[in-house]
Amino acid sequence: METIQWFRELQEQIDAAIDEFFDGRYKTTAKSPPEKRFEEAMRYAVSGGGKRLRGILVILWNSVCDKPKNPSTNILRAAVAVECMHAYTLVHDDLPEMDNDTMRRGKPTVWKAYWADVAVLVWDALNTLSLELLADTGSIEAVRLLANAMGDMGVVRGQIKDLEFSSYQDTLTNTLWVHRDKTGRFIEAAVRLGCILSSKHNDEKTELLCEYARLLGMAFQITDDLLDIEWDEKIVGKTLHKDEKTGKGIIPLLGIEQSREHLRMVSEDAVSIARTLEEPRLEQLMEYIMNRDK
Ligand code: IPE
Ligand code: IPE
Ligand code: MG
Ligand code: MG
Ligand code: MG
Repeated sequence: METIQWFRELQEQIDAAIDEFFDGRYKTTAKSPPEKRFEEAMRYAVSGGGKRLRGILVILWNSVCDKPKNPSTNILRAAVAVECMHAYTLVHDDLPEMDNDTMRRGKPTVWKAYWADVAVLVWDALNTLSLELLADTGSIEAVRLLANAMGDMGVVRGQIKDLEFSSYQDTLTNTLWVHRDKTGRFIEAAVRLGCILSSKHNDEKTELLCEYARLLGMAFQITDDLLDIEWDEKIVGKTLHKDEKTGKGIIPLLGIEQSREHLRMVSEDAVSIARTLEEPRLEQLMEYIMNRDK
């Protein structure tokens, strides 16, 4: 599916902000070969090929609340922080001890390109870098929010359940619960960050946006599960056809047709919130997330 124009423009802004950040951070030339290789691996993990969905959500929700013409430096900083955090979850998720995947964003995974010991250190460094960047916004609430969503009460907990998926996938409720924690918590956190970093957010609107975000997160992971079973690795750019072997995700439980039906119901609820908020971009985003091919 063709990427929406405003989504593509925000992707470009985030990509440029990521490059600019690392150019500045790693500008000293006097460094040892292991340091050079490590910095290269850091950039390899974050740059190139990601959809930038979570960073875009920070900017988008900030613009729903504040309506600025362009994202402020602070908001772009938060978007870069969120994308570093996301990159860490991917480096981690792909490790041999986790999903053992060899392709991501159309290139070898970080552990495959730099080996697992370096990948572990890259994940550590991206995690802390992300919080350091978010602290630059001056909002302790923002740092706390992201740290809480990603850790033992959020994404990590979801990944633990994903590891033990066979004991959780007996009912739809349990399956969706894994999806919510491993993927949805982060997506909701990105939305909340956009709201709390805005000067004009109102609580009622924020809660509606977060309800939309929970539905978006669910739709995002169900679509990821469908891509895993139905699509081509060359197009999606990552190792696929794993879920059918491991029995993970919603498809082994519901089958393709019923999973699509569930996705449709989730998206209808989200679209109805988008209409209440009179925000056509939220409708377009849902449509894009459901029909994406990567
Ligand atoms: C992949 O996320 C991990 C999941 C939660 C399914 P994305 O599909 O957003 O990954 P990139 O950033 O576009 O590569
Ligand atoms: C990933 O879920 C969730 C996180 C990275 C936290 P998946 O394992 O389904 O993601 P992909 O398919 O490898 O991108
Ligand atoms: Mg996984
Ligand atoms: Mg995976
Ligand atoms: Mg997947």
